[in-house]
Amino acid sequence: MNGKTGFIIMCMALTAQVFAQDIKLPEPQKTGGMPLMEALNARQTQRTFSAKPLSEQQLANLLWAAFGINRPDGKRTAPSARNMQEIQIYAALPSGLYLYQAKSNTLERILAQDIRAQTGKQPFVKTAPVTLIFVSDYDRMKNQSEFYSAVDTGYISQNVYLFCASEKLHTVVLGSVDKEALQAAMKLTPNQHIILTQPVGYPPEAAAQ
Ligand SMILES: Cc1cc2nc3c(=O)[nH]c(=O)nc-3n(C[C@H](O)[C@H](O)[C@H](O)COP(=O)(O)O)c2cc1C
Repeated sequence: MNGKTGFIIMCMALTAQVFAQDIKLPEPQKTGGMPLMEALNARQTQRTFSAKPLSEQQLANLLWAAFGINRPDGKRTAPSARNMQEIQIYAALPSGLYLYQAKSNTLERILAQDIRAQTGKQPFVKTAPVTLIFVSDYDRMKNQSEFYSAVDTGYISQNVYLFCASEKLHTVVLGSVDKEALQAAMKLTPNQHIILTQPVGYPPEAAAQ
């Protein structure tokens, strides 16, 4: 092996390592769960969390329920104004900050730092094993960006609430967030706007199981 070939192999190995930090999620399970009327009856805000992590299957199911692709034309589980699909879901996990890529069903790692503590002002954000961060990409919108971003995020957040009700997970949507600090921590562009965050996790008693 000459020096050039060795260098190419080393570059390929490094590239593979970088991509290996992304999480290829298992196929989301699109059947089962609680009947809709029972999930609506159980939906509620809960502000206590176990630190127990969600499995990759649960993350896949949660993200698909939130804003996954549910039709061959690429449309999603939540509506969006003019189908602009401007809401991006970031997931803050202990292992870093990830961007949900619905098409490839992947969590793309954006940062290696744990930024969960910055996803809200209440102390439980440090404990919840994942916080979803709903970010609007204003580059995808022409007008009424603030209004549509808020409305479109509401649908996604409610999907998360119903999924959590069905799975007996705890969740709370958060508007009380230092968005400027979080935007800086996430290294977002000026046209990416944080709308709401939403921690998800098991109830505290799950830690003992
Ligand atoms: C846009 C929005 C922002 C919210 N922000 C917070 C928040 O920052 N902190 C919090 O503890 N709860 C927050 N909540 C949760 C509400 O307090 C909660 O939904 C309300 O008390 C009703 O309770 P329920 O969801 O169990 O019906 C927020 C809810 C919404 C819709």
